Amino acid sequence: MATLAVYPGSFDPLTNGHVDIILRGARLFDRIVVAILLNAEKSPLFSMDERVEIAREVFKAQSNVEVDTFDGLLVDYVARRHAQVIVRGLRAVSDFEFEFQMALMNRRLDARIETIFMMPAEQYTYISSRLIKEVFTLGGRVHGLVPELVEARLQLKVRRDA
Ligand SMILES: Nc1ncnc2c1ncn2[C@@H]1O[C@H](COP(=O)(O)OP(=O)(O)OP(=O)(O)O)[C@@H](O)[C@H]1O
Ligand SMILES: [Mg+2]
Repeated sequence: MATLAVYPGSFDPLTNGHVDIILRGARLFDRIVVAILLNAEKSPLFSMDERVEIAREVFKAQSNVEVDTFDGLLVDYVARRHAQVIVRGLRAVSDFEFEFQMALMNRRLDARIETIFMMPAEQYTYISSRLIKEVFTLGGRVHGLVPELVEARLQLKVRRDA
């Protein structure tokens, strides 16, 4: 049976840390779905449509990477997709506690689903979407930390009136 993995997150915006994990996942599993969570934050910088469009563009050459959205319980979405695996990224020990809780709760909710953790390349271990938004908004350089498309979109969005 083909192994389908789901990589959930808010991806507001997609960073090179996310891209690293997705490409690793695409090598390991038959197919990986980047599942963008609806309504994760009340005021996201990028709309759902923008986030979907960006991810589809970045992975257009990877035929086994799919981009989708979901709402509600992650395990329900995973079961609906007939996926077997949830992929999560681990950057540092600080990610561990929350991820450990989520993985065990999700296992309790649906024992058929395995959570797999992957580490990004070292140079991406300190990147988060929140930090990218903060640094960029304050005028800092994020070149090399996000896909070029994201950098261009940030420019349009944040510096349009600068
Ligand atoms: N730089 C990174 N390297 C590896 N995994 C990452 C990285 N950034 C995020 N992840 C993982 O990607 C998944 C989705 O995370 P999420 O959408 O919350 O991204 P984030 O960068 O943590 O955003 P935010 O700062 O808004 O929380 C999580 O499993 C998270 O641990
Ligand atoms: Mg996060």
